[in-house]
Amino acid sequence: VDTEAFDFLTARLDNPLVVVTTASGDQRAGCVAGFHTQCGIEPMRYAVWLSKANMTYRTGVFATHLAVHYLDVVDHDLAELFGAHSGEDIDKFARCDWAPGPGGVPFLTRCPNRVVLERISIWDGGDDHACFVGEPVDASRGAELIPLRLSAALDIEPGHAVEERVKADDVVAQR
Ligand SMILES: Cc1cc2nc3c(=O)[nH]c(=O)nc-3n(C[C@H](O)[C@H](O)[C@H](O)COP(=O)(O)O)c2cc1C
Repeated sequence: VDTEAFDFLTARLDNPLVVVTTASGDQRAGCVAGFHTQCGIEPMRYAVWLSKANMTYRTGVFATHLAVHYLDVVDHDLAELFGAHSGEDIDKFARCDWAPGPGGVPFLTRCPNRVVLERISIWDGGDDHACFVGEPVDASRGAELIPLRLSAALDIEPGHAVEERVKADDVVAQR
């Protein structure tokens, strides 16, 4: 494959960034994601791809709900908090305002543009990211949304490299 062409094309798409949050038991997690999209109309479906290296993935596999918060250009600091650090090292939710939503999923108070997904399925092709497909069960919007895009977050070093991923068997063993 021509990786230069692939990188050119994906860079031009310049995905808007979201913070995906989730909760299972008393564990809360959330990370920045560029891999997300609507993927069904009737029934309505939305998908997010979570890296198996991330705490958010490990929490999400046991969760009923995910909240997708659409970041605005003014939210670079939130992208830094949720994208450059792992919940294994810091308590991200002690450093921002949030409130519990369905299934305990944390809603970020700063981000009124939000869709809540009730998980339908996880598609795992054995690669570094797994696809979580959900039914939108709640949506809210602010007055406006000017998306924070990938090109505006290139200075943020992800808290986990994808090579750090664990195998599904290890996740079950950890519980
Ligand atoms: C611009 C950007 C895009 C990212 N996109 C994704 C993504 O689509 N899916 C994902 O799982 N992680 C993505 N990450 C990485 C996580 O946000 C990052 O590794 C985070 O620190 C993981 O936190 P956690 O271990 O608390 O879940 C992205 C990071 C950045 C900076």
